[in-house]
Amino acid sequence: MRTQVGIIGAGPAGLLLSQLLHNQGIDSVVLEARGREYCEQRRRAGMLEQSTVDALRAAGAADRLDREGLLHHGIHLRFAGRDRHIDFPSRTGGKSVTVYGQTEIVKDLIAKRVDEGARLYFDTPVTAIEGIDSDAPRIRFVRDGVEQTLECDVIAGCDGFHGVARPALPAHVLKTFERVYPFAWLGILADVAPSTDDLIYAYSDRGFALHSMRSASVSRLYLQVEPDAKVEDWPDVRIWAELHERFAVPGWRLDEGPITDKSITPMRSFVAEPMSFGRLFLAGDAAHVVPPTGAKGLNLAMADVRVLADACVEWFGRGSRAGLDAYSDTCLRRVWRAEHFSYWMTTLLHVDPSAPEFDRRCRLAHLAYVADSEAAMTTLAENYVGYDWNGDD
Ligand code: APR
Ligand code: PHB
Repeated sequence: MRTQVGIIGAGPAGLLLSQLLHNQGIDSVVLEARGREYCEQRRRAGMLEQSTVDALRAAGAADRLDREGLLHHGIHLRFAGRDRHIDFPSRTGGKSVTVYGQTEIVKDLIAKRVDEGARLYFDTPVTAIEGIDSDAPRIRFVRDGVEQTLECDVIAGCDGFHGVARPALPAHVLKTFERVYPFAWLGILADVAPSTDDLIYAYSDRGFALHSMRSASVSRLYLQVEPDAKVEDWPDVRIWAELHERFAVPGWRLDEGPITDKSITPMRSFVAEPMSFGRLFLAGDAAHVVPPTGAKGLNLAMADVRVLADACVEWFGRGSRAGLDAYSDTCLRRVWRAEHFSYWMTTLLHVDPSAPEFDRRCRLAHLAYVADSEAAMTTLAENYVGYDWNGDD
């Protein structure tokens, strides 16, 4: 089998990349280890920067997003009995964000790719990547029990944090940077109208809580829990009791409803450098992971593949490798900004049980500053909507 761009992984990164390339007349094959249903059911976050919405629109994959996405103009920061609404458009030259589940983006992209007759193969694990420092890189994969080879010009490793692409970079080239946090998130979906207009990020001495939503009748809520917590430790009554405590401010009520989904997400910050070597290019979670507090994971993955698709157009269309050569540095600038923001939001809003009381007092002072200072609110707003350092998005 042969293609121009061999894509490993049918998460949002691999799927959008294959769509963007197709729209520019570049051929790709997507190899995905899991089944279609599994990919379409995986629950993840769902806060989209304007640049991500624009990219999906430009790719022609935003019909349902345009109908069902929920536009948000800010967030609520809640702590110590206070609720501060931080407006985004007035502080970011008019930018907003959109809530639309990553699960839905994946469904939309898969449907479109399948409709267009893409070579998108599920249940097809990649076992090895070869020749990335040659002109003829190859991907080995297993399909219907038979090992096969995909010959490519370029390989895109969009296979997530646990994939095979990142370890294919030579060990002496690859540097990794990591921070693991002493807590996790318990996320629920509940059949109840959201009790808020914009998302609520709440700090309390009992831990962090987040009120998000998926539609006018479905709420998405998260709680900081112990890093080794199990879903079984959290019966519905305990979840609601804890949510009430953590969100409490005078005059506001959290409405309860049947919980339809529960899952636990570990919290990690991770970056691999460089994001490319020879003919192999990493994108999305394969190269970097952020804790979900800043809502950056999906947006970074989408930003990477926009850069990679443009670089491929330059390479296949005009024979220039400049974009591909600059790929890692171009992406890492955005990645590190988002890494810092996500780390900042995470440490600002979570309780670290092992930290001294001094840290808690500093955190409360910091929260008060963010809620009171115009400069600090602008910093939060411009990073949340996606920091745009040179006007390129
Ligand atoms: N062969 C084929 N596919 C593989 C292999 C392999 N050896 N290893 C992993 N995969 C697949 C996984 O099954 C998964 O479907 O690669 C895909 C990677 O998808 P994601 O983990 O969703 O990663 P990405 O597309 O980069 O999206 C990043 O996911 O974790 C969130 O916050 C993150 O929103 C961000 C998004
Ligand atoms: C979500 O809606 O799932 C969501 C929103 C914002 C975050 C994280 C998750 O920071």
